[in-house]
Amino acid sequence: MAQQPALPFLPDPAEVGRLYDRYTDLGSATLGESLHFGYWDTPDSTVPLAEATDRLTDLMTDRLAIGHGARVLDLGCGTGAPGTRIARRTGAQVTGISVSGRQVERANALAASLGVADRARFEHADAMDLPFAEASFDAVIALESIIHMPDRAHVLEQVARVLRPGGRLVLTDFFERAPIPDSGRAAVDRYLREFLMTMIQAEDYPPMLRSAGFRFEELTDISEPTLRRTFVELSARIGGSADALSEAHGAELVEQFDPHDMIDVAEFGHLLVVATRNGK
Ligand SMILES: C[S@@+](CC[C@H](N)C(=O)[O-])C[C@H]1O[C@@H](n2cnc3c(N)ncnc32)[C@H](O)[C@@H]1O
Repeated sequence: MAQQPALPFLPDPAEVGRLYDRYTDLGSATLGESLHFGYWDTPDSTVPLAEATDRLTDLMTDRLAIGHGARVLDLGCGTGAPGTRIARRTGAQVTGISVSGRQVERANALAASLGVADRARFEHADAMDLPFAEASFDAVIALESIIHMPDRAHVLEQVARVLRPGGRLVLTDFFERAPIPDSGRAAVDRYLREFLMTMIQAEDYPPMLRSAGFRFEELTDISEPTLRRTFVELSARIGGSADALSEAHGAELVEQFDPHDMIDVAEFGHLLVVATRNGK
């Protein structure tokens, strides 16, 4: 199954963990607590970035079809902002995992500060080898995390094992909407390489889900309401406070990636995927 034909590497989870140990504080200084793209319902929406990132969390949470007490796995939990939001909004019991120790520490501190440490807990674990028993979750959410995992088919098999029959999986991923033109190729390669990510072809998802034991439900291109505007906002934030960010986080990190380069690469896509674990 093709992961990303143009890149010669696959991400290594330990290296991804080290990347987030270094980048998370800078990420939340620019993007906000949630380390994912915003979702704006209309092109002229004036909703700020932080609210738009919550909107994407909520839109995905609603597709989990969960209620009070449901056991939810947040695969690649970041700083715990999405996981604590899910726990507070739905009353679910959330377990989040990340390969970054810094993120796990921040996520558990966030849960404690919000008074939901009994309903949202976070631990260091690798999605490639999930340390949970069979059928131990009612739903799994993976918000912009599978992009960093070296073998998507294997991750889906791991998720299928820990998800109960009938449980939902909702994830976002990067995909190639159309062949990336030469004008955008360097920016895309750099973006993927800097953040240890790959992208996929959308048509690979249905067969990959089926062979992992899922019923395929939804595949939606969410590029328009998410990508361009987030890159524009990030670019303005980094450009507008580069000196302060460099002082706080180091010039090397701040200069490593310029979101401006990605603004007009319309062939780079963002995908929402929903599937249900087979069986009753
Ligand atoms: C872009 S961040 C998104 C974080 C969070 N889902 C959010 O939306 O705020 C990617 C996350 O995936 C996690 N991740 C990447 N590879 C992983 C792996 N192999 N196992 C567990 N988590 C992983 C990272 O540690 C990080 O938390």
